[in-house]
Order: sequence, then C-alpha cells, then structure tokens
Amino acid sequence: MNIHRVGTDVSVLNDPRPVAGVGFLPVNAFVLHAAEPVVVDTGLSTPESGFMDALGSVLDPADVRWIWLTHPDRDHTGGMFALLEAAPQARVVTNFVGLGILATERPLPLDRVFLLNPGQTLDVGDRKLHAFRPPLYDSPATVGFYDDRSRTCFTSDCFGATLPSAELAGCAEVGDVPRDMLRAGQLFWATVDSPWVHTTDPAGYLGTIAPLRAMDPEAIFSAHLPPAVGRGAEFFDMLEAAPGADPYVGPDQRALEAMLAGFEPRAPSQ
Ligand SMILES: [Fe+2]
Ligand SMILES: [Fe+2]
Repeated sequence: MNIHRVGTDVSVLNDPRPVAGVGFLPVNAFVLHAAEPVVVDTGLSTPESGFMDALGSVLDPADVRWIWLTHPDRDHTGGMFALLEAAPQARVVTNFVGLGILATERPLPLDRVFLLNPGQTLDVGDRKLHAFRPPLYDSPATVGFYDDRSRTCFTSDCFGATLPSAELAGCAEVGDVPRDMLRAGQLFWATVDSPWVHTTDPAGYLGTIAPLRAMDPEAIFSAHLPPAVGRGAEFFDMLEAAPGADPYVGPDQRALEAMLAGFEPRAPSQ
C-alpha cells in the first residue's frame, strides 16, 4: 500500500493491482482531514489488503466520523466493517440503493447509516461536502462529492485508468504519467466500467459534464487514478470523447485458455 499526502487535507491510500493482459489498476481510498474526519471508500475486499494498518498510519481510526462509500463495489468496501468497529461514532454515507446492495451480504445497522442523494450536502464541521453523481459510473449507488473548502472533488470510479506499471499506478501525482498514455488508459477504463456510454443519449450525457466544469475543481480524486491537480479541462475533454472510443470486448474462453497455457510451467530441460 502506498500512502500519499496531497495538500494539507487529503491522504491517499493507494493499492496498485495487476490486471492480466491489461496492466495495473490503482485502487484508492482516501482520508479527508476535515474537522469531522471523512474516510472515502475502504479498499479491496482481499484478505491481505492491509486497509486498517494503512489507515492507522494517517489518523487514529477511532476519530473517523464519516465513511463516504462512493458505491458498494467490493473494491470499495473491504475495510468498512472493521472501520465501523474501530470508529464507534462513524456513519456510512450512501444512498438507499447502496444500503440495499450492502444488505445482500451483511446488513448495516441503520443507526450507522446516513442516506444522502446527489444534490444534497453533508456538513463535516469546517466545510460542506456537496454530493453529485459523476458522469461515468458503474453502480446506481454511486455518489461522489465536492469539498468547497479544499476545492477538491471525489469522483468514485470516474476518470480511472489502467496503466502499464505498478509504479505509475502507485505514483503520487498523475503528472508522472505521459499524457497520451493517460488518455488512452482513461478511455479504456471508461469503456470497461461504463459500457453504456456508447449507447446513451449523447446530449444528455454531455449535459452531465457541464456541472463538473462549473465546479472547476483544483484537484480530482478518482478511486482508480493517481491524484490529479489542475487537470480538470483535459479530463473533461476526455469524458466528452468517451462515447466515440472503441467499445471494450473482454477475452473469451478460448483467449483465457491460451493465456493460461502461457502460464504453465515448462518441463525442466534435460
Ligand atoms: Fe465500481
Ligand atoms: Fe471501483
């Protein structure tokens, strides 16, 4: 796990994961060091994710007041119940659909939940967090937010990218990634994670980008991208291009078997 600090207000808990045949995908959780500390997502659900140890290196988990779950996919919920135990005052921010999806595995006690819809705000003591739905998403439970004090936005899966190395997927600033490589990785991820972008009404989709442009965030934090400071205009252009990118088709069984055959150990040479 890589830990990065961006400005005074945000810690990034970054876990770059290999994706066969593709490269590496950053998986990020964040701490927003507000008067009432906010943890944004809780990492992978794999046993070795080490989320609580990483979190404990940037703040005392007992101080956490809010767990903003951008959506309940399993790369976002790994440490959630451990953190709820360690942080007795913390409540999980999600929407009604998110609550229902979580209940299919392990229901959340209702007194540990705070339901919030896009367009609503959460007061965390020294700032307000403005909930919005990012233009690209893979779950009806997706809710990101804009922090009006640090002028940062947290965008869930939107703006993610696959990258060719663990070093790039784990870097402290997306500026380390060459621009062409970054755009290709973001467009690829957009078509994988939000395949509906090719079939949705173009005008309606472009209309969802306008509020982000108006927000003019200083920094953009995606669950699947290194931190991005001052890259808004370029990223919004990428979103506009996403419907025209090549649709993603994953490997089929034949391709999987060819891939596995390539992994088989060879007999020792005589
Ligand atoms: Fe997701
Ligand atoms: Fe995700």
